[in-house]
Amino acid sequence: MTHPPPVDYKAQSAADFLKDTLPCQPRIGMILGSGLGALSAEIQAPVAVPYGDIPHFPVSSVPGHRGTLVGGDLCGLPVAALSGRVHLYEGHTPEVVTFPMRVLAALGVEMVIITAAVGCLNTDHAPGDIVVLSDHINLMGANPLTGGANFVDLTTLYNPELRKTAVAVAAGQGIHLGEGVYAAMQGPCYETPAEIRALKALGADVVGMSTVPEAIMAHSLGMRVLGLTMVTNMAAGLTGAPLSHEEVMIASDEGAQRFQALVRGILAVLAESRTPCLLYTSPSPRDYKYDL
Ligand code: HPA
Repeated sequence: MTHPPPVDYKAQSAADFLKDTLPCQPRIGMILGSGLGALSAEIQAPVAVPYGDIPHFPVSSVPGHRGTLVGGDLCGLPVAALSGRVHLYEGHTPEVVTFPMRVLAALGVEMVIITAAVGCLNTDHAPGDIVVLSDHINLMGANPLTGGANFVDLTTLYNPELRKTAVAVAAGQGIHLGEGVYAAMQGPCYETPAEIRALKALGADVVGMSTVPEAIMAHSLGMRVLGLTMVTNMAAGLTGAPLSHEEVMIASDEGAQRFQALVRGILAVLAESRTPCLLYTSPSPRDYKYDL
């Protein structure tokens, strides 16, 4: 006998609040990482909701991670853009870090564009470049699905069709778009040069402290995932210069225009393709394990 998935009450109550507050039901969710929040200013007929107003929603304390959800229309698609996220390195649990993904799934969102600032290990790329994620290596020592026997297949976590669309749109815009593997570290300190050499040997192209818990949760809930990262610095030890959060913020400002153009271009293609359903059919049921 099969049982229906249990209800994630906190995520459901946040989603119910947003259903009453947003102008339309979003189909696309966007998590805007460090310095990439300006995209939400381009949303038409926007309704901005501070995270603090949304029931149970976690609020970040990190500079550059404004906590606002903006709903509205972007390139003809109903979107919910989340400027700001919380991280494991702030001391939040994977459950809290992935709460926004569970809310988006409960809202009926079909795909998420997860963005982040990254350090770069691959010398084919430079600060200001955009790298679309093909895969990840989870070295955070944490998994958002812990606590349930949820053996989700991650083979196509970073959706191949969406990656192809991103590559094609970037080529059309004359944007140099890399594809690469994201190494997820818990932080909050940057890596050592020896760690970067080890990550390179493991096959990583970029490194960051976010994205992976959210991507795993989104995929496990049946949402398609596109991971877009902005290279803000070469990784530790590659240039001899020390890393700083200020450098990360400045570099991502410079590349933000191109980043926004790429995201708009991808959304325009999706809107035009009139894909009847963007929904990725998950091999596993929408399996909520929290708040039972
Ligand atoms: N390492 C980890 N996370 C980062 C980096 C880095 O070099 N740059 C931006 N986020």
